[in-house]
Amino acid sequence: MDARSSNGPRIFGKSGAYMMLDSANTEDILLEVSNVEVIYNHVILVLKGVSLKVPKGGITALLGGNGAGKSTTLKSISNLLLSERGEITKGSVKYRGATVAGLSPADLVRKGVIQVMEGRHCFGHLTVEENLLTGAYTRKIGRAELNQNLDLVYSYFPRLKERRKSLAGYTSGGEQQMVAIGRALMSKPETVLLDEPSMGLAPQLVEEIFQIVKDLNEKEGVTFLLAEQNTNVALRYAHYGYILESGRVVMDGPAAELRENPDVKEFYLGMSDEGRKSFRDTRSYRRRKRWLN
Ligand SMILES: Nc1ncnc2c1ncn2[C@@H]1O[C@H](COP(=O)(O)OP(=O)(O)OP(=O)(O)O)[C@@H](O)[C@H]1O
Ligand SMILES: [Mg+2]
Repeated sequence: MDARSSNGPRIFGKSGAYMMLDSANTEDILLEVSNVEVIYNHVILVLKGVSLKVPKGGITALLGGNGAGKSTTLKSISNLLLSERGEITKGSVKYRGATVAGLSPADLVRKGVIQVMEGRHCFGHLTVEENLLTGAYTRKIGRAELNQNLDLVYSYFPRLKERRKSLAGYTSGGEQQMVAIGRALMSKPETVLLDEPSMGLAPQLVEEIFQIVKDLNEKEGVTFLLAEQNTNVALRYAHYGYILESGRVVMDGPAAELRENPDVKEFYLGMSDEGRKSFRDTRSYRRRKRWLN
């Protein structure tokens, strides 16, 4: 049976083929979000039962427009909701089969899960290198290992090496995004939750950053869950995608299949048989959005 034609959950195989996922190889799933509901300020219901799986060694994309709930989903995994008066009121988040409830963001970093926040938060008054070093604070390592780690980050981000002594606040948007990702790498993560890496960057830089994400995935084995509004670029680099709308997953599938899906093409990639369109054309969108039916 062709696994692609089945409705069962799939994971990305080493050979590049999709394999059916059965209970025997659930250890391949690092992160499992099940039916998660999130409420902000006790009243604002934002996630309405989101479920997704992140397989080890894959790049999984969480797609959707403004306010769909992508960042909220990532924060519900990394336990950063509390600081924003948000809470998970239903469902569960498991990492390697164990619940993450009750763990602090720092505990999660020690378990190998780190979030790169939207808007590339850097310490503007620190140098690029000092910013990177702050990323290793959860690890008790000596100077030699620290330097080794820095060298690894610089090998993926040669621009950062050139600018290591510059104040992060004076570097470009693209460089700051690189600092934010590089700092996360300093914690030696197994899984990176990357929120909107393309935000506000020129197309060429977006490609550069996604190419580095792909290299880190392939060469260092880092697993990624990335939230993106830029469906086009995300589906070219990810293996699997989930599309969120108003706090619900409305569609998911292998990236190659989503790229070919007529609704995704029309509403998220701005292409259709009738010519270019935008998903912001909501009237046509509601009428045609057959995946909700
Ligand atoms: N701290 C908060 N308090 C109240 N509402 C919030 C809070 N953070 C987010 N929201 C609301 O939750 C919804 C989802 O927001 P979220 O940031 O998760 O979306 P997103 O998909 O990441 O959007 P974007 O692509 O614009 O970053 C939005 O309607 C937003 O206004
Ligand atoms: Mg967001």
